[in-house]
Amino acid sequence: MEAKPGAALRRAQEAMMQTAPAAARSPLRPRYHIAAPAGWINDPNGLIQTGGVYHVFYQLHPYSPEWGPMHWGHAASRDLAHWEDFPIALAPDQPYEDGCFSGCAVDAGGVLTLFYTAHRDGPPLRESQCAARSFDGGRTFVKDPQNPLIPAPPEGFSADFRDPKVWRGGGGWHMIVGSSHGGRGCALLYDSPDLSRWEYRGIFAESDGSSGTMWECPNYCEVDGRGVFLFSPIGMPGHKNVYQTGSFDARSGKFTGGPLRELDHGVDFYAAQAFQDERGRALLVAWMDRWGEPHPTAADGWAGLLTLPRELHVQNGRLVQQPAPELALLRGETLAYRRLPLRPDGALSVDWRGQCLELELLFRREEAGRGFTLWLDTAPGRGVPIVYDARRDAFAAPHGVFPHGADLPLDWVPRESPDPAVSLRVFTDACSVEAFASPLVFTSRIAPDAT
Ligand code: FRU
Repeated sequence: MEAKPGAALRRAQEAMMQTAPAAARSPLRPRYHIAAPAGWINDPNGLIQTGGVYHVFYQLHPYSPEWGPMHWGHAASRDLAHWEDFPIALAPDQPYEDGCFSGCAVDAGGVLTLFYTAHRDGPPLRESQCAARSFDGGRTFVKDPQNPLIPAPPEGFSADFRDPKVWRGGGGWHMIVGSSHGGRGCALLYDSPDLSRWEYRGIFAESDGSSGTMWECPNYCEVDGRGVFLFSPIGMPGHKNVYQTGSFDARSGKFTGGPLRELDHGVDFYAAQAFQDERGRALLVAWMDRWGEPHPTAADGWAGLLTLPRELHVQNGRLVQQPAPELALLRGETLAYRRLPLRPDGALSVDWRGQCLELELLFRREEAGRGFTLWLDTAPGRGVPIVYDARRDAFAAPHGVFPHGADLPLDWVPRESPDPAVSLRVFTDACSVEAFASPLVFTSRIAPDAT
């Protein structure tokens, strides 16, 4: 344990700020996506709006651009478009933790309260659920002296027991925590009258054997009056972050939902969290990355960024994500075309080279001929492709930079939408491309000079 409370936080903040100037000069530094001032980030944590302010926390290793003992970084915004860095919120400084793993935030009668997993490396691995509160609008946090509030998983469950999501309901509070039993991923439900005393209720949802061996970052949120359950399964080949729409029955403590669907069809999307803001609007943010990939930005002292905030709706049982409308605040010069300036080969190219662009293409399926390829060019004749096939009514967004005319590896994802009007909105930043192809989304962290 730290001799003086706050010493670990101060040390972490100083180390991060020492590298921040180099990170800020990095050519791949995002201009409007959330990233840490320096160091490594992964999952978004503690998404909340309170007192009009949106807070986004994230898993942070402030000492290097690699994963290490986890802290919680923090950014805040009044409009979801402009973000201010706040001081690091949590450092692992207690005897029960080597890292402060992912979790959530709630407004408890005006007190911003974080729930997180205290992770002990082991062996044996130990994971327990803890709380921390802020009495100064999120500038500083005090860990609950009763921590860990849930010291261990129920008997029979794996020691992997992490990423609490808490919401109000049934006259009190519910919490789900990701875990595993008998080699199957699951989310466990706890109830509390006061956010301090937690009682285990049972399994909220579990794998039928085909959806992963452990579930990370389980998340429950109501969207347009429907229950939506998200999780990031370990050991579910071909899937990163899935969801189900359905309903949660507080009496039985069970979630029942429809088919599992992928949240995002790009390669860089994990650990999404959804929450309702103060006007009941559902929003989602995810980590725009994946485990085990090299980071060309590590040389500049930073690695990793979060997706844009996305507004959620449920249509025909499916989740539809659109960039938060507030992002229009970032628009500068606008260029408008009535007809797509397509080349004879059905291609359309836009000069990207790491610039911040928002592109919007609106068309009807029957007007699109055979389809088109939108190239986000990184150099003349080369770029990142987004392909639409009108016959299939499907999109594909191969991850990489390819020469125009290359034989592209196309993994078609059908829109499966009754709506003949198609909208493709693409947001690029210095090292990212997010394509919203109603209702599909493709997210990639990609450097313009990637080959
Ligand atoms: C998901 C995850 C979480 C964990 C965190 C640790 O990416 O593995 O389960 O809390 O990252 O940084």
